[in-house]
Amino acid sequence: MSPPLRLAYLVFEVRKPVRWHRFMQEMLGLPEPIAHPGGGTGWRVDGARQRLVALPGAADDLLALGLECATEAHLAQLVHRLQAAGHAVVQADAALCRERAVQQLWWLRDPAQGRVELCAGLEQAPTPFASTAFPDGFETGALGLGHVVLATQDLPAMEAFYTDLLGFGVTERLATQVGPVHLRGTFLHCNQRHHSLALFDLPSSHRIHHFMLQARSLRDVGRAFERAEALSVPIDLGLGQHPDPDGTFSFYGETPSGFAFEIGAQTRQIDPGAWRTMHTHETSAWGHRPRLRLKLKMARELLKARLRTRRAPRPVAQAAALGDAL
Ligand SMILES: [Fe+2]
Repeated sequence: MSPPLRLAYLVFEVRKPVRWHRFMQEMLGLPEPIAHPGGGTGWRVDGARQRLVALPGAADDLLALGLECATEAHLAQLVHRLQAAGHAVVQADAALCRERAVQQLWWLRDPAQGRVELCAGLEQAPTPFASTAFPDGFETGALGLGHVVLATQDLPAMEAFYTDLLGFGVTERLATQVGPVHLRGTFLHCNQRHHSLALFDLPSSHRIHHFMLQARSLRDVGRAFERAEALSVPIDLGLGQHPDPDGTFSFYGETPSGFAFEIGAQTRQIDPGAWRTMHTHETSAWGHRPRLRLKLKMARELLKARLRTRRAPRPVAQAAALGDAL
């Protein structure tokens, strides 16, 4: 088995930096961020100097996901493996390392042309993390930063890249029907976290479907849900729980860039060395009821995807059926 990796950070390119600033401060209750010289902003969620970065730009999407190697030797080994497989892996200069708050950094593109940054030496902040919105803090440490879910049109190629080359293991494969959409997904682990990365073949105009922060207490999840409602943050899925073996109690809302965030707790851990891939046909054991706005958003995404490929004979009827089914 490969040495463990950890999801280190996420970098977003955002059209509305001011709204993101308010979202991070009021909804997520994160402490005062770091201002980057180039206009970006970095927030902490734990003892690390920064975990979530927003750079102003047109994409409103994930710009990069950062994966941390526990040692520089493991980072060098991964870079060598990727180069031997024919990937162009670029070493970051000192300025980019500073901006990402890491000691070493290399980056490359995955099969969907998403930027993957491999780092070592995630810098720690000089003071402990504290948040009045999440007084019990977030579950990170050896498990890394929550998880990220990517939408992809080429699940096999993406899965092969992250498993064969980066050493992720497959925790679960999901196959389910959501209205007219046959949804397939792969949940991938790189440490004891049930999944640090998941790949969904959903129609989406965003590369990222959602990112998840794992609170340490149910109370903080419940309070975050109430806060989202009070702040009129759009809710996609109400409170609910993913089925075993994940078990996360969570809700989903919408970020100022239109993709989703998930706040959860009580995610169970796995033993990566002994894990056998499971198969599942449901996304939730209970709850997670989709709000009308999510049904409409999914219908729009399906319609756009169908129009792009021009394969659907009756895209409007299919989109309407999706809305009815959710
Ligand atoms: Fe999730």
